[in-house]
Amino acid sequence: MTTKIQPKLIIHGGAGSSLQGKGGVEKVRQLLHQVVEEVYTMLLAGASAKSAVVRGCQLLENEPRFNAGTGSVLQSDGQIRMSASLMDGTAQSFSGVINVSRVKNPIELAQFLQDSTDRVLSDYGAGELVRELQIPSHDGLTDMRLQEWIQERQDNFQKNMAGVIAEPELAESSNARRGTIGVVALDTEGNVVAGTSTGGKGFERIGRVSDSAMPAGNYATTHGGVSCTGIGEDIIDECLAPRIVIRLSDGMSLQQAMAKSFQEAGDNKRDLGAIALDAKGTIAWGKTCDVLLAAFHDGNKIGDTLEVAKGTQTGCI
Ligand code: GLY
Repeated sequence: MTTKIQPKLIIHGGAGSSLQGKGGVEKVRQLLHQVVEEVYTMLLAGASAKSAVVRGCQLLENEPRFNAGTGSVLQSDGQIRMSASLMDGTAQSFSGVINVSRVKNPIELAQFLQDSTDRVLSDYGAGELVRELQIPSHDGLTDMRLQEWIQERQDNFQKNMAGVIAEPELAESSNARRGTIGVVALDTEGNVVAGTSTGGKGFERIGRVSDSAMPAGNYATTHGGVSCTGIGEDIIDECLAPRIVIRLSDGMSLQQAMAKSFQEAGDNKRDLGAIALDAKGTIAWGKTCDVLLAAFHDGNKIGDTLEVAKGTQTGCI
């Protein structure tokens, strides 16, 4: 009988400014822990890391408070355009969609494209794929996001990003926020998979491409996997996810790779966060911003990063 590996899981619902008040923290904690519970149960039952990551991303995309799928932020022209990607660390295969509209779960398109010869599709091509797969049209617009956009239009789009959490009482009223969702899983066979999905920054120019559908924001090999959140341009400039993962294949521990990468990101004044797993089962997170909305299952219990101190921090479990 082959020895099975203890599965591990970490998820995030974005990063940004502090959540106001205990009520806000508790609501987000409950949401994240529920997703961890469901997806970790799948992994324990022997589900593949890929199916667990897709399920985790679907659940987070379906939660209107997070900026992905339903509840996505609006771009400058008032439209929702979403991006998502999936990377299988064992196959070292990346797939994704960029700026797709009217689909409930963009991560499902990334999943379909894993087995395609053309693995990253942008707006028109992604729309064609939606029709080809006969996926029903879905309007992910929420009242909260519409109100946010109307307010910003009245203010002549002064803000550089939309709120990380779609509830005014949960987000600080200061400027930059960052929303994305992501899942990284290690399954009982030792496979690592990373998935990331986003509505983008909010209020961006038409055609702006998010890090979430680039290896910079979502990357995995046989050594480990990373999903990023934060300001996409900062993540791209750091090439953050591969930077961390390649440090693992070059011999650093995950703890060292995270500490070095976040020290550099902090020195470069980047505004971002990331979740990570290595193939040995180490779980890690890092951020340069105030708060990272991450939760994990280490095989014994669920934990989260919601009340970690502001500023550049990394943690390893
Ligand atoms: N990290 C999400 C975005 O900037 O689009």
